Amino acid sequence: MTTSLHVERRLPADFLADSLRADALAGLTATPKSLPPKWFYDAAGSELFEKITALPEYYPTRAEREILQAVAPQIAAASRAATLVELGSGSSEKTRLLIDALRTAGTLHRYVPVDVSEQALLAAASALFSDYPGLEVSGVVSDFEDYLAGPAEDGAADGPRLVAFIGSTIGNLLPDERATFLARVRAGLAAGDRLLLGTDLVKDPAVLVAAYDDEAGITAAFNKNVLLVLNHELGADFDLDRFEHVARWDPDREWIEMRLRSAGVQTVRLPAIDLTVEFADGEEMRTEVSAKFRPDGVVRELTAAGFELEHWWTDREERFGLSLAGPA
Ligand code: SAH
Ligand code: AVI
Repeated sequence: MTTSLHVERRLPADFLADSLRADALAGLTATPKSLPPKWFYDAAGSELFEKITALPEYYPTRAEREILQAVAPQIAAASRAATLVELGSGSSEKTRLLIDALRTAGTLHRYVPVDVSEQALLAAASALFSDYPGLEVSGVVSDFEDYLAGPAEDGAADGPRLVAFIGSTIGNLLPDERATFLARVRAGLAAGDRLLLGTDLVKDPAVLVAAYDDEAGITAAFNKNVLLVLNHELGADFDLDRFEHVARWDPDREWIEMRLRSAGVQTVRLPAIDLTVEFADGEEMRTEVSAKFRPDGVVRELTAAGFELEHWWTDREERFGLSLAGPA
């Protein structure tokens, strides 16, 4: 078996910049203003997210790790995966639990991390490659909403495949985006392949709001990082001191909404898209939704996308859910 480390930019040279321009133009000229959350994750944003995962208030990473520690061998036995594809892989830290279990089961040959953050992907892929001798690591820099987990392009046999979408990143998509995304993932799976999906669960709003508005202000810095991305990439002149971090629970839609609130009337210029934007005093711009799920809702969404649930696990405190599903 040949082993290799390979990271492919599956995007035209200017794709990310073009797509950022289009998103910034659409979002900043809409009422109310909004920006899609994928633009948080330049190198600094990915590092801030890693800090968030260690915060005392941010329980999701610990809760999901607890589940993976308990059930990774079961996931390995049920999937017998030869290829592990991970969407929004970030640092791939929790993924090590899955890789360990799949290697112990003797089935895993290839790991395919997919992330829009090139720096995070490169660092994670090279660390895994050196820590797991014999594992082929084949990273893809891509928007996971465009990526289809098709079979290996080098013609090597790579099934069965396990597609992991953990961390509750699915909660950062809006409901219609989630439906489209899950249907695309389903369309890319063959019989015998599986989806492993992590979903944060509805709970006491005080616990939820604290997780998105920590004492140390790391989440506030993460939220404002999207403005720095616009400053760097589009030559914008957002003044970060004139925006305040807001995290709010929406009880009807059962999601946390992160926003940036304008402290005073201000005008921002974005020369790269020839745009001037006015903010009213107190105006709030949405930067992220983080949906929280109920078990029956997860089953409903999976079923609607053509999946059949095989296993449902939670941590002991039932804060977080992990599902294993196959094509129905
Ligand atoms: N799975 C990891 C990281 C979660 S953070 C965990 O559970 O801790 C979300 C990750 O998804 C980041 O690494 C970010 O760069 C990536 N991401 C966000 N939107 C994306 C998109 N549209 N396409 C690809 N990656 C995306
Ligand atoms: C990546 N994603 C699941 C995180 C979340 O909890 O929605 C991003 C995040 N936003 C604020 N804190 C963490």
